[in-house]
Amino acid sequence: MDYSRTIDETNPLMKKRNKQCLKWNQKLFKWPLIVIWFIVLLLCAVCVLYIFTQNNIESESSNVLKNKHSLHILSHATTNDDFLKKCAPIVKCDQNAKYRSINGSCNNLKTPTWGAATTPFLRLLNANFSDGYYDIRVQTNGSALPYPRVLDVNIFLNREIYKVDENNVLLMPFGQLLAHDISGLPNDLIIDENGNAIDCCLTENKIKNYTQCQIALENLPDDPVYSVHNKTCSPIFRSLTSRNYSCPLYPTEFINDNSHFIDASEVYGSNESYALHLRAMEGGRLKFSIGDNGQMFCPFLANQDKASSGNKKTHIKYDTGDPTNGNQNFGITAMQTLFLRFHNYIAFKLSSLNPFWSDEIIYQESRRIVIATIQRISYEDFLPIIIGEDFQEIYGLNEANIYDPTVNPSTSIEFSSAGSRILHAIIPVEFNFMNKDYKIENSIKITDWMVKADLIPLGDNFNKLLKGFIETPGRMLQPSYNFYISNYMLTLPNNPQYKGRDLLAVDIARGRDVGLQPYNQVRHFCGYPLAKDFEDLADLIHIKDVIKLKKNYYSVNDIDLMVGILLEKHSGGAIVGPTARCLIADGFYRYKAGDRFFYDVKGQPGSFTDDQLKLIKYITLGHVICATTNVDNVQEDIFKTVDHNLFPTIKMKCDEEFNLNFKAWEEVNYRTEL
Ligand code: HEM
Repeated sequence: MDYSRTIDETNPLMKKRNKQCLKWNQKLFKWPLIVIWFIVLLLCAVCVLYIFTQNNIESESSNVLKNKHSLHILSHATTNDDFLKKCAPIVKCDQNAKYRSINGSCNNLKTPTWGAATTPFLRLLNANFSDGYYDIRVQTNGSALPYPRVLDVNIFLNREIYKVDENNVLLMPFGQLLAHDISGLPNDLIIDENGNAIDCCLTENKIKNYTQCQIALENLPDDPVYSVHNKTCSPIFRSLTSRNYSCPLYPTEFINDNSHFIDASEVYGSNESYALHLRAMEGGRLKFSIGDNGQMFCPFLANQDKASSGNKKTHIKYDTGDPTNGNQNFGITAMQTLFLRFHNYIAFKLSSLNPFWSDEIIYQESRRIVIATIQRISYEDFLPIIIGEDFQEIYGLNEANIYDPTVNPSTSIEFSSAGSRILHAIIPVEFNFMNKDYKIENSIKITDWMVKADLIPLGDNFNKLLKGFIETPGRMLQPSYNFYISNYMLTLPNNPQYKGRDLLAVDIARGRDVGLQPYNQVRHFCGYPLAKDFEDLADLIHIKDVIKLKKNYYSVNDIDLMVGILLEKHSGGAIVGPTARCLIADGFYRYKAGDRFFYDVKGQPGSFTDDQLKLIKYITLGHVICATTNVDNVQEDIFKTVDHNLFPTIKMKCDEEFNLNFKAWEEVNYRTEL
């Protein structure tokens, strides 16, 4: 090709264009009016753009997002340092250990207690107590904050939107499993002489002014629900503080009972002795029970060791990695069962491939795969739905191998006591038991079946429950919790006076208990303007709700974090608003960048080989369900509802398309022994 010729041909063209431009310019200068018109138009466009960015949350937040990783927030509180200086145990670590410890210690080799169980929650912002130490925050004019229950009644209750979500119910129990994996905040119970927790609402106990009872929930006499039952108060306790763990800190700090990492604490426990207790010590398996139907479940607790339909008084309870929450409702119990079965399924596969492997190696390798699977599902399938795919990408959460030993992996108290709890708004009223023909055979109200899992091991219920999770559209995240969970949570069967609790009121109270900063401070911390008065909140919260806030709080600086984030309009692509999104993203960044054993980290003693990683990246929650239940088909997008009539081909048949091959774990040439 003759390049010189090509160049020659273009030159005259350019000259021609330049000449034309010149002519235009001359014309313009001849008509200055047109130029002025042009400038006026340009100014108008700039004005319109300005107004738009002021009113529109999305355009504002996307401006913030432009700079990659500029969104990361840094904690300036020093709590963990205080803990490290005064109370942290001296831990000796084996730098070459292949497997993560059960309690999370020794993950960070420089600060081995970072992220370990029974270490404090991180504070993103300093604590807010009225005495700077432990007393509940008051309003800026010195008056008490509004009762949490009154806030629920005045702002949230009875405003449910009955719209089906594109996400299915399964998103909720998986979310709960994850929530309790990274966070466990026990109550500071006062136990009576019979071994029962006292009722903070009884007059005799109120007189005693127990500090632990300071957040008992008061109801007004005109309460729309509780007035009918003459219920003026709901008992809840303040949380255990570091003092209870022989570590007094100023201001009061709260201890996470679970390891902070995403490490399947719910399945394996968060301390060594409990983890041992859960193991069968044979074939790498976890202990299990077999129901009357021949299926595998978590071990039935000793005095209730059989699922019995005959004896209605027997309430089944399971022994799980989380004795506090594992039995709380069918959703989380089902998830625990699913992953217990998955562990034992993998253990079986690995021991078949490597018959010479010890119980210890099979247990640890199976545990490693289960944790990796939960991590992968969390970041690739769950989180994008919650905070939006674009945000996740820009935040750097999709990047592989980002381990950074300077990142503190601890759960922030803002995340666990508010940001994560926003997903309480997706709890549906009912769970459906669905058969293979997509027929709902039974629906149960979640609140009717709390802390009693009797139905799960009966007949084919477990499979039908799972099918129901997958096929039933979920509750859309909205500024309210469902009516039942807002009123009748945890009704106690043996206590007729006790007519339930309000989960949203509990969440608001918990935020005060642990000394969270109010909404305005946190949203500012997340990069949004500090509101000077209520009206300034209208950038993120609908004006109708701003008016409600004004009616309920003295000042814009008094609004509880939980209340504010629930009212925020959703950010683009996310199901939560900007402040919750910021808290959630921060948490998930810590659990990934701060975890030396994160599944895609390279070059560590615990790293998977490339072939093993290939399988880990392939395993979905669909595989877990297919491998461990009789559910016959699942969709690839496991948290999305798929209409099986309209899109029959989107469903994958479990037996044909969800086989897992663990060959990458086969050791051919040598024996490994512990
Ligand atoms: C039926 C479903 C659920 C019920 C009945 C439920 C109920 C509860 C209750 C009673 C608490 C303790 C409240 C307190 O005393 O402070 C709690 C805590 C919590 N919940 Fe839920 N929850 C459910 C689902 C979820 C989901 C889907 C998520 C998030 C994805 C979640 C996140 C949390 C978190 C982070 C805590 C604090 C955990 C801790 O630090 O101990 N929950 N939930």
